[in-house]
Amino acid sequence: MKFGHFDDSAREYVIDTPRTPYPWINYLGNTQFFSLISNTAGGYAFYTDARLRRLTRYRYNDVPLDNNGRYFFIKDGDTVWNPGWKPMRVELDSYECRHGFGYTKFSSSKNGLKADTLYMVPNGENAEIQRITLTNTSGSKKSVSLVSYVEWCLYNALDDTTNFQRNFSTGEVEIEGGAIYHKTEYRERRNHFAFYSVNAKPDGFDTDRETFLGLNNNYDSPDTVMAGKSGNSVADGWSPVASHRLNVELEAGASKTFIFILGYVEMDENKKWAGENGCAPASKELLQTNPAMRVINKEKAIALQKRFETPAQVEAAFDELKKFWDGLLSNYTLKTGDEKLDRMAVWNQYQCIVTYNFARSASYFESGIGRGIGFRDTSQDMLGVVHQIPTRARERLFDVASTQFEDGSAYHQFQPLTKRGNADVGSHFNDDPLWLVLGVGGYIRETGDVDFLKVDVPFDNSATNKATMFEHLKRSFHYTVKHIGPHGLPLIGRADWNDCLNLNCFSKDPNDSFQTSTNKDGKNAESVMIAQMFVYVAPEYAAMCRLLGKEGEAKWAEKQAAKMAAQICDTGWDGEWYIRAYDDFGNKIGSKECVDGKIFIESQGFGSMAQVGADKGLPIKALDSVKKYLDTKYGIVILDPPYKDYHIELGEVSSYPPGYKENAGIFCHNNPWVIIGEVKSGRPANAWEYYKKIAPAFLEDISEIHRLEPYVYAQMVAGKAARRHGEAKNSWLTGTAAWNFVALSQWIAGIRAEYDGLRVEPRLPAHVKNATITRVYRGCKYVITVENKDPAGKIALTVTAGGVKADGTLVAAGAKGSTVEIKAIVG
Ligand code: BGC
Ligand code: NOJ
Repeated sequence: MKFGHFDDSAREYVIDTPRTPYPWINYLGNTQFFSLISNTAGGYAFYTDARLRRLTRYRYNDVPLDNNGRYFFIKDGDTVWNPGWKPMRVELDSYECRHGFGYTKFSSSKNGLKADTLYMVPNGENAEIQRITLTNTSGSKKSVSLVSYVEWCLYNALDDTTNFQRNFSTGEVEIEGGAIYHKTEYRERRNHFAFYSVNAKPDGFDTDRETFLGLNNNYDSPDTVMAGKSGNSVADGWSPVASHRLNVELEAGASKTFIFILGYVEMDENKKWAGENGCAPASKELLQTNPAMRVINKEKAIALQKRFETPAQVEAAFDELKKFWDGLLSNYTLKTGDEKLDRMAVWNQYQCIVTYNFARSASYFESGIGRGIGFRDTSQDMLGVVHQIPTRARERLFDVASTQFEDGSAYHQFQPLTKRGNADVGSHFNDDPLWLVLGVGGYIRETGDVDFLKVDVPFDNSATNKATMFEHLKRSFHYTVKHIGPHGLPLIGRADWNDCLNLNCFSKDPNDSFQTSTNKDGKNAESVMIAQMFVYVAPEYAAMCRLLGKEGEAKWAEKQAAKMAAQICDTGWDGEWYIRAYDDFGNKIGSKECVDGKIFIESQGFGSMAQVGADKGLPIKALDSVKKYLDTKYGIVILDPPYKDYHIELGEVSSYPPGYKENAGIFCHNNPWVIIGEVKSGRPANAWEYYKKIAPAFLEDISEIHRLEPYVYAQMVAGKAARRHGEAKNSWLTGTAAWNFVALSQWIAGIRAEYDGLRVEPRLPAHVKNATITRVYRGCKYVITVENKDPAGKIALTVTAGGVKADGTLVAAGAKGSTVEIKAIVG
């Protein structure tokens, strides 16, 4: 069953009912000011860091679901309704929500009144702009009131939801003209404040939640809205909110547009206050929490309000936003005639950018409080965005590498605001260092920016202890070599990619964190997957060594990789598939000898991507075992059979009910490893079958089963052992985005940036007979037309324009600004 459709020409997903199987959300903002917005206008805004600088409140895991947002209430006679349906949930005569790239639109109507709302964060602005147009379609005059509403968060989202004894007494506001200012804590240690304004003179306002709602009401019956009269309340502690009332007269057929701004402003220390140090004096009509207090200097806030005073200004910013996305998406396009595949190529890139912006912090499954930016996660995310935002990828890789320690290990996470490693979680996830090599390699392949390897990067954010980026990579690579266990395989530490394979945890205490408690010395448990990753990243590392003329180190790395590959064939192979790991007792994990967890996807994926033991046919055997034991109609499960008991020697993996998450769920992050492995092993038809099983656009028709947004990947789909097989969880922020884009763009469509050119090896599905791919690589535009006769066949390239040479399937980088045309015949 579908709950909407793709509007491909507008690049929007159009939702036609507020009753989606779960809130279907979108993200606004692209640099510092960010918002989450659901298809019922739920969600919240924050500045840079969803934990430390939260601007509006949200109540996760609350009832009713998706509680709190930026709400408009329309009172038309006795009927009160919301253009986004919530929180009143009054039946609408029509409803449509369009999630576009960086904006969301609602169009809804009730009793002859139409409301068209646009929400967006303009590029370069610290503000969410809300433009609402009311149109009277009823044939007679209408007098309605429009009431806006947001609830402020007291900035630190964790403190805000826990420390009530203090927070109920701290809220402070100012009200001036159409703007309501949230100046809580501005006096002491903050130089920032937020505001919510409207470009009209309000007929009433509220800034105190209790007055607005009534003490015992829910959001579906706010006292002031129902009574048609605002309380004109000035918040004094408790929960500060911002609400405007506009009484709107509309002749038949008439429209009126209002612009609301949810803004954030940072001030210089000596310019904080009105009337001081040359700042304009406070206005006389101002109201504030306590008249004895100093007044905010609003110069910057007013300037921001003035930039979006008129519909024309908003329209111009909206056009800019669209152009910005046109630009980003023009670096890679795929046209195959398969509409689902073509839209995946577009939406997958959008999800990659959102994942860049939000890491794993803020979604409808991530509270924005728990995790900052992950070392491993972010290094992988860069693979999905580097062709669109190379400069920002470079910055992020710099930040990630800055949290590495001298010995090559790294903080597992860091906070985006402070950029400092998160000491609570610490280090010793032994796969982390290798992902950095992959991420930086991806950046250099894309850009050719060899100088990045020469840039000084701190260790543990130190101002003085630094080494070149290359040296960081060297320490990463050597870290694996220096941490080898009894079977000649890398020690796993707290976990590898699978955060739930906690082989040194041995916890019996439910209050322990699986990820951070360690009760073993870490000298035994080993990861085959890290071994395979090592083999996989070694060519990247060696190539980067050579870019700097370090032939000796390159050779050494290749020798180490060959040694590791031989070791995997020896102690990491089970006969029909790659073993996953060894536990602290030296027992195999992911072997036919095991009762549960006989086979895991990660080692089959990485083993086949790295082509470990290809001369012995191991990748093909491993992939055949994936098909036989792990494949399901909704994707490949992470392991089989699921663990039914808690295994103290395995940790969190055995803590989930069978079929969920790391215990035999379908992890959409590592399905593409198998896809890539299949392409590399010469079986593109298998790759395609796996690809479409988890690609969201292909699941649109079963949205009632899948439940989450059909335009983005989810991290996990319940596996075959689960009651709810096929149901997805954790949409949006997942390494799934980057890896599926890598699988699609680099292996299925087959266009790969390499260190010395662009590899063109399309392995498109058989039903696609002709395709056109455009790709901007190092400033040159490549237009590749593909004739697909036999997807697994030989590839013949002809460069038809652009004056560069092809060496087999490798095409040299063309001149910046030029266009290279290539004809590829496959089969
Ligand atoms: C989840 C993992 C996640 C880890 C770290 C676990 O509970 O199952 O998917 O990586 O927490 O946040
Ligand atoms: C989600 C985490 O963000 C990621 O780092 C990890 O690799 C997967 N879960 C698997 O555990």
